[in-house]
Amino acid sequence: MKVMLVGDVCGRTGREAFARFTPKLKREKNIDIIVVNGENSAGGKGFTRKSLDALYHAGADIVTSGNHVWDKKDVLEFIDDEPFLIRPANYPDGAPGKGYCLYPWKAKTIAVLNLSGRVFMPPIDCPFQKVDELLKEIKDEADIIFLDFHAEATSEKMAMGAYLDGRVNAVVGTHTHVQTADEVLLSKGTAYITDLGMTGPANSILGVRTERVIEKFLTGRPVRFEVAEGDEVYSAVIVEIDDATNRTVSIERLQYHHKTNCF
Ligand code: FE2
Repeated sequence: MKVMLVGDVCGRTGREAFARFTPKLKREKNIDIIVVNGENSAGGKGFTRKSLDALYHAGADIVTSGNHVWDKKDVLEFIDDEPFLIRPANYPDGAPGKGYCLYPWKAKTIAVLNLSGRVFMPPIDCPFQKVDELLKEIKDEADIIFLDFHAEATSEKMAMGAYLDGRVNAVVGTHTHVQTADEVLLSKGTAYITDLGMTGPANSILGVRTERVIEKFLTGRPVRFEVAEGDEVYSAVIVEIDDATNRTVSIERLQYHHKTNCF
């Protein structure tokens, strides 16, 4: 089976890029399941009903998130009723939503976990201790396991990859919006990439209008950030799993650009 994991969909341009490339890739690359990080899908921060539905409509099966999950309060109206929308599992107990989901595929159960890092990130419980708890909880149910580790620091993400090597099928990083070229099958068989990168406006600073970010650096004053528009970038990996053994076979990194005439 092949699972495509798509990097952070940012704003309207990101939703359009996701809709432009996903169905075509699903067909051409024979993808079975699509996982996408959607935490920036509504105006660059959080989810609305509309932004989540746009992801499902374009082919997302499972939607992950991160530190921006609560930014639009709309999410509180639906997160508890969405079986395949997940948020970092290491929020304190009692947070709305859930930190992992179990997705049925043929006779198998695919677990997708979501955790947030805590280096250069808002305070949150330990992701390493939390992942041990989660793996214990799902061990009798899950045949195949993926983790979206939403984190800033490369070291924390690499440490998570090493910590879970041989215990899960893939660890993919999200959050930085910059794709890293370090995709690898680790020594005990876990696929790993430090960051999937962004699906959103290509001519931007991490999705935000370039001139706004430069203004902030030049003046040192608070500046209202807006999501950029125009040319699109699409970032993802495809992880292939052996159907007989449930072991990871390969990880392939993708990045595509689409030029628009809109500026
Ligand atoms: Fe984030």
